[in-house]
Amino acid sequence: MTSAVERVQRTLRRYGLGGAVGRVWAVARARVVLSEEHVWYCLEPNAPRPKPRLPDGLRVKVAERAEVARLDQWETLSTASAETRISEGNDLWVVLEGAQIIFSCWIFNRATPVVGAPDGLLTLDPGMVCLEDSFTGAAARGRGVAPSAWAAIADTLAAEGVDRIITKVGVENVASRRAVEKAGFEPVAVMRFRRRFGVSRTSIRTLDEGRGRFFARRLDSV
Ligand SMILES: CC(C)(COP(=O)(O)OP(=O)(O)OC[C@H]1O[C@@H](n2cnc3c(N)ncnc32)[C@H](O)[C@@H]1OP(=O)(O)O)[C@@H](O)C(=O)NCCC(=O)NCCS
Repeated sequence: MTSAVERVQRTLRRYGLGGAVGRVWAVARARVVLSEEHVWYCLEPNAPRPKPRLPDGLRVKVAERAEVARLDQWETLSTASAETRISEGNDLWVVLEGAQIIFSCWIFNRATPVVGAPDGLLTLDPGMVCLEDSFTGAAARGRGVAPSAWAAIADTLAAEGVDRIITKVGVENVASRRAVEKAGFEPVAVMRFRRRFGVSRTSIRTLDEGRGRFFARRLDSV
């Protein structure tokens, strides 16, 4: 568990004092009023799909212990939280350029964190995994690293018997939506989450009747 002191230090390092105050306010406000919209995407790794190749000199792999600790470089997740995720049976994948980590993402194997899901967790169907928290280091963006890493990860998962990879992207996150579509992910549902003074509601609009049904069944608050 990340200690409160560690969280404060991380926030100050990352945002500076002024930014940290704004951030604390935003987090406190989000507990009362929050509005989010995400697109759920789906990739069937065994079906025909684009397979962009990793640029020369890069390799993709499941992170080892030393690499998990180095993920701290981006300050997106503490080492302790990353280790907890792994102990719960999830996988951290990285792309290395030489010894440097330039990309990371998570594969959740049984359940994935979703604001608005019952208890904040979406339980996955057998054969289904969820891709989360993809991040390309700022200097490596725009080289097609993320889509080619996902394509390679999908090859490995297909060989392990996975038949569906889901992922969600904020509707306004144009870079990420372009990136997932380059790897062949298709939009199957739009999820809206609203919280007003303690009352929350999640609604799902399916874009693809068959593959969107899973999200409507599990997440729609009706
Ligand atoms: C989303 C993200 C993982 C994409 O990674 P990537 O390795 O740069 O992927 P790509 O090279 O395919 O670029 C995807 C899009 O990013 C945008 N882009 C291109 N160069 C960029 C740069 N230098 N900086 C930022 N965005 C850039 C473009 O829109 C590009 O699409 P296009 O090639 O069709 O023009 C990366 O932008 C990122 O880490 N963003 C911050 C974290 C995030 O939003 N994660 C996703 C959460 S769902």
